[in-house]
Amino acid sequence: MCGIVGYIGARRRTDAREVLVDGLKRLEYRGYDSAGVSCVVPQGKKARVRTVKAVGKVAALEDKLARTTMNASLGIAHTRWATHGKPSVRNAHPHTAGAVTLVHNGIIENYQELKAQLQKQGRTLKSETDSEVVAHLIDAALADGADFAAAVRTAVAQLRGAYALAIICADAPDTLIAVKNSSPLVVGVAPDALIVASDAAAIVAHTSQVLYPADGEMLVARQTDDGVDYRITSLGGALRRHTPTQLEWDAQQAQKDGYAHFMLKEIFEQPHAVEDALRGRIVRAEGVARLGGLASVERQLRAVRRIIIVSCGTSYHAGLVGEYMLEEYAGIPTEVEYASEFRYRKPLLDTHTAVIAISQSGETADTLAAIAEAKRKGALTLGIVNAVGSTIARETDAGVYNHAGPEIGVASTKAFTSQLTILVLLTVLLGRQRAMSLTMGKRILTELTKIPRHIETICADSDAFLALAQKYARYDNFLYIARTYNFPIALEGALKIKEIAYVHAEGYASGEMKHGPIALIDKNFPTVAIVPRDSVYEKDLAGIEEIKARGGRVLAITTADAAAVAQHVDDVITIPKTLELLTPLLAVVPLQFLAYGVGVARGLDVDKPRNLAKSVTVE
Ligand code: M6R
Repeated sequence: MCGIVGYIGARRRTDAREVLVDGLKRLEYRGYDSAGVSCVVPQGKKARVRTVKAVGKVAALEDKLARTTMNASLGIAHTRWATHGKPSVRNAHPHTAGAVTLVHNGIIENYQELKAQLQKQGRTLKSETDSEVVAHLIDAALADGADFAAAVRTAVAQLRGAYALAIICADAPDTLIAVKNSSPLVVGVAPDALIVASDAAAIVAHTSQVLYPADGEMLVARQTDDGVDYRITSLGGALRRHTPTQLEWDAQQAQKDGYAHFMLKEIFEQPHAVEDALRGRIVRAEGVARLGGLASVERQLRAVRRIIIVSCGTSYHAGLVGEYMLEEYAGIPTEVEYASEFRYRKPLLDTHTAVIAISQSGETADTLAAIAEAKRKGALTLGIVNAVGSTIARETDAGVYNHAGPEIGVASTKAFTSQLTILVLLTVLLGRQRAMSLTMGKRILTELTKIPRHIETICADSDAFLALAQKYARYDNFLYIARTYNFPIALEGALKIKEIAYVHAEGYASGEMKHGPIALIDKNFPTVAIVPRDSVYEKDLAGIEEIKARGGRVLAITTADAAAVAQHVDDVITIPKTLELLTPLLAVVPLQFLAYGVGVARGLDVDKPRNLAKSVTVE
């Protein structure tokens, strides 16, 4: 769950340090407990590797770097989210062993046994990390006479686990090597430089041409006076051909655009995110959705009799909404499972089951493992993924991209609404292959195209939501309740305020209140109730009365045609009216503002909440 960056430019360039630090800042969402940079710095006719590390965010590293000179054209850098060993300078990357210095994202599962082996050979390891072991393995192979590339091959052949490594070597001061297995790695190809990184966000400012090495592939890049030569090979040394592809994101998209936080910017971007998810995917006259990424499995989709959605966190909540949609409108029995559970139990799958992975990052380790398990059991695997070219996108049989653009805030917002959008399209696609009428297909799609404008209407009230957030920021406990399509939104609202504002919150199906949680209600335990005017509206109102009767404070989210709700609650937020299955796309937006506002009111860094990372690439 760390971020790595490597840079190699033509020898005449001196901007390695700047490119690396800029890359780290853009990858900081992946981890921010320590950071470090190493550059190959010319020293007379020789070169040496200089390393600077700091505990804390990248800004702390920058402070330290400001006191050093490091004119270099080659280097590596890392921002860490600790997995082995506490955050400290000693455990921060890059790690050095003899001539070798490297940065690592992933987890080496057999590092204890490798460490014991290295210690027996008389090597002293300075950190508590699994990563330092790899540097020693490479250095040991160098000591046995291997050249740099051969030494890396020898070392990685001994590793079990996940890794993306960027490696430099004082004995080969013109070479950068990168190698990967199960951890993300993107290579940006500029005219006279290469940048390797965990995520394209570190690359977009410099080039839009990228390659994605596969697991078990290795990049060896050598600088010349005016450029860089590189080759990608298998670990056995066989040449692998990769043609750079055009990256869809631009540097501007990865900036805050004047918003106080990425999270706020991304909430406001939701009308565009939904539009982008819909672009070119609706054939209104036929009432069908056209999802190009699923065209290759169209025949199999017609034969699907059961769907299992696997995902984590916010993506799991999107899956839960999908379950309601797919069962009601496509008539396909659907289950949603935490990927972390699915991977370890014995799911019953067959060739008529489609397993759909939903993931913003496309790199979530549990979701990836669930997909691997589904594949082993012969199920059709599909992905709903935002990060283009990510591992889940590549590992699934077919899939749909969200096209929501980079989501930088750790709390998922625009990716969620775009996941819901894709799930509606999928429901229409599968429904129309089955019993859904032309009229119903058209109706859903027509209403879906209005959602971006509806979200704009909601966002226009942001000041009112932030004022409400101020008012509620003093409470330490919240209940979020709703029924049917919005029950998952209650879960999502509770997750959002937990992770951003560190406030205890629980999401419940309204009907469950009497079975326990209502005991919690008093004047200090407010309830956020989602009560659109839909098929369960009357039941929701009765539930609210029960909470009010016990002295509970209620903040309601309702549709504009249910003004009567205001008489029953303390505060009310209205959202536009739409079809019942589409209300989650609207109801979630005020809840995002609420969580954001409470987090800000409590003085927290909402883009980088404690203990979390954007992309959970470890188990
Ligand atoms: O990248 P993914 O969608 O697979 O990530 C899944 C969860 O880790 C993610 O949704 C997490 O719960 C977010 N912090 C929620 O805001």
